[in-house]
Amino acid sequence: MRFPRFEMERWQSAWEHEVDCNLAESGIHPVTPGDYLSEQECRQLLDIRLGYPQTNGTLRLRKAISALYPGAGPANVLVTTGTSEANLVASLLTMEPGDDAVLMLPNYMQIWGLVRALGGNVQAFPLLEDRHWAPDLEQLERVTTSRTRLIAVCNPNNPTGAVLSAEEMAAIVQMAEKSGAWLLSDEVYRGAELDGTLTPSFWSLYDKVLVTCGLSKAFALPGLRVGWILAASEQIERAWSYRDYTTIAISPASDFLASQALQPEKRQVLFERNRKILKLNLAILEDWVKKHAEIFALIRPKAGAIAYLRYDLDIPSETLAERLRQEAGLLLVPGTHFQMGNFLRIGFGCESEQLRDGLGRFDRFLQGLARA
Ligand SMILES: Cc1ncc(COP(=O)(O)O)c(C=O)c1O
Repeated sequence: MRFPRFEMERWQSAWEHEVDCNLAESGIHPVTPGDYLSEQECRQLLDIRLGYPQTNGTLRLRKAISALYPGAGPANVLVTTGTSEANLVASLLTMEPGDDAVLMLPNYMQIWGLVRALGGNVQAFPLLEDRHWAPDLEQLERVTTSRTRLIAVCNPNNPTGAVLSAEEMAAIVQMAEKSGAWLLSDEVYRGAELDGTLTPSFWSLYDKVLVTCGLSKAFALPGLRVGWILAASEQIERAWSYRDYTTIAISPASDFLASQALQPEKRQVLFERNRKILKLNLAILEDWVKKHAEIFALIRPKAGAIAYLRYDLDIPSETLAERLRQEAGLLLVPGTHFQMGNFLRIGFGCESEQLRDGLGRFDRFLQGLARA
C-alpha cells in the first residue's frame, strides 16, 4: 500500500512551528483545561490513572457524543484518535481495491489520499465558486455509478467554509441511495457556524451513512486528539476491530476532558467563546480583502476558521505560498493543495494580533511585488 503525499499536511507539519506567523492553521485558538473545568474537575483530572481506557471510548464519552445526534445512542459511536483516524477507519471499512469513490472538491484531501492508497479510483464533483460554493449536483449524478462504493463530503467544507442546504443534502443522499454507496460525511467544522445556526448532520438521513467528527475545530481542542465515527451499530462493531490495529485507544485524560467539554452548558460556553473569535477576526480579514479588492475575492465562509481567497496575480499558488513563507515569514496554504489554481487558504481562528501581524506581512510582500 502506497500513500500519496498529503501535500497540505506535509506543508503544515514541516513549517507551522518554524515560521514567524502561521495562518495555515484551520482551527481556533485552542483552550486550556483550566478554561472549562471547575476546580473540582481539575483535581479529578490529576487523579486519573493513566492506563488503557475502554478502547472504543468510555460509556460516559460515547453517551456525551451520541447526545449530539437525535436518535443515536452509545452503540452508534466509536471514539477515535482525532477525526483523521475516524476518516481512516471509515475508508478501511468501505473501500476495496478497484472500487470507485466520489469526492467533493475542494476538500480536506485525506480521504482522496486514502482511497488511492487502498487501490480505489477517485471521481470528483466540484463546489462552484460562481454559485457561492454550491455543489455541482449534475456532475455528482454523472460520476456516480453502480460501481461507486463511497460518496464523501465535508460539511461544513474545508477550505471554503460553505454549508450544504437541506435540498443539496437530500439530493446527495438520493444519489447515494440510487447507487447503494456509503455516504461518508466529515462534519468536524459543525458547531463553528458564524451565525450560530448549527449545520444539520447527515446522521439518520440514510442507513449507510458514516459521520466522522471530533473536537479539533468547533471545540478548539485539537490537542485532545478526540474524534469519532457515528454509524449503525453493526458498522461500529466492525469499525472497532480496525482500531485494534491502528491506535487501540485514546488517553483516559483525553476521554475525561472530552466528556467534560461535551456537557451541554460547557459546550455552549466553548462554542460562544469560539464564535466570538471567528466573528471578530473575519471582520478584520474582510476589511483587509476590501482594501485589496483589485487582487483578492472572497466568498464569505459560513462556518469554520478558514477563508478561501481567490487572487489575481501572475504567480502560481505554490510559488506564492513558498515566497510568502521565505520572504515574509508567513505560512498560508496554496490552492494547489486542493487541486485548484489561484487560491490561498488563510486561517483566521488565531488571536487577532497574530492575524493582523500576518496581514501586515502580506501587505509588505505585496508592496515589494509592486516595486519590483
Ligand atoms: C475536514 C477535516 N477533517 C479532519 C481533519 C483532521 O482532524 P483531527 O485533528 O480531528 O484529526 C481536519 C484537519 O484539518 C479537517 O479539516
